[in-house]
Amino acid sequence: MNILITGATGFIASHTIVELQQNNHDIIGIDNLSNSSIDTLDNIEKITKKKIDFYQIDIRDYDRLKDALKNHKIDCCIHFAGLKAVGESVSKPLEYYDNNINGTLTLLKVLKEIGCHNLIFSSSATVYGSPKFIPITEDCPKGICTNPYGWTKHMIEQILIDTQNATKDWNIVILRYFNPIGAHPSGLLGEKPNGIPNNLMPYITQVACGKREKLFVYGNDYNTHDGTGVRDYIHVVDLARGHVKALNAINNKCGVEIFNLGTGHGYSVLDVIHTFEKVNQIKIPYEITDRRPGDIATCYAKPAKAEKILKWCAEFTLEDMCRDSWNYQSKQR
Ligand code: WQD
Repeated sequence: MNILITGATGFIASHTIVELQQNNHDIIGIDNLSNSSIDTLDNIEKITKKKIDFYQIDIRDYDRLKDALKNHKIDCCIHFAGLKAVGESVSKPLEYYDNNINGTLTLLKVLKEIGCHNLIFSSSATVYGSPKFIPITEDCPKGICTNPYGWTKHMIEQILIDTQNATKDWNIVILRYFNPIGAHPSGLLGEKPNGIPNNLMPYITQVACGKREKLFVYGNDYNTHDGTGVRDYIHVVDLARGHVKALNAINNKCGVEIFNLGTGHGYSVLDVIHTFEKVNQIKIPYEITDRRPGDIATCYAKPAKAEKILKWCAEFTLEDMCRDSWNYQSKQR
């Protein structure tokens, strides 16, 4: 299939392109490079020995997007492009709504005009807010998001559902990611946030390489086995493989399907620290500080629906995630 990837040079998209190319799909990539590097394309090619058609375009730019895509037959779009820093979204809500919502609306308009009605959307478990029950299934009610980033995912899901409801030609797969971490085992692709990392694993790897003095653990008074926050960490390659499997649902004319992509296991912050230290033989100094506003105690998936319908399940362990995260970071200048 000819697959259009938005946000192509980003963390999850780049790993997904590798898996798609290794499954003989052809890739047309789009990215505005606002939060990623063009070098990622070379690293993808080093892994797969295949090139992609790439356009440096902002998906809000209707004319350039339409002009780029008119020469391609797009069978399906996987839509990753969007701003994703939770904390930043609180301070810059209009930038997040413009980028994520208007970008999606422009993309849908162009896809419709070029006759592509198949879309896989990069959503997030954040749409569950403070989940009504754990482990989280897809029919868990969506909640009150604690930040504009989460609301953009919540709203885009609704836009897609309403679009397919109005025009049955559309097939939409919504993938709700839990906590993607890790890196491609080659060490050529990984997570490289700009500035101070918001997320746990990139912060740990920057402590491990000496770029940060210590990790601040946001609270140890949650109702969890050791008081620190529990999350469903999933290896980015497992996540990428979930997108390849999601194409089967598109080909089966699924209408709208929603899947949680998680491992079904919850690990605490201290579990991650201790596993990272054991696997990489590196001490991670940390200090317990106050809770981070908006954080919840526990969040992990019940991935049974993806296992049953997509024939997909996560295979990498937390040890693999810690090893691959460090392998990537240790190769960075
Ligand atoms: C994980 C745990 C923190 C950093 C977010 C988004 C979600 C998705 C994944 C995009 C929590 C603790 C963290 C630190 C810490 N992103 N922590 N010190 O908040 O579960 O999810 O990223 O789709 O949408 O909401 O991930 O990695 O920030 O936090 O103690 O320096 O680590 O309190 O318990 P989170 P996270």
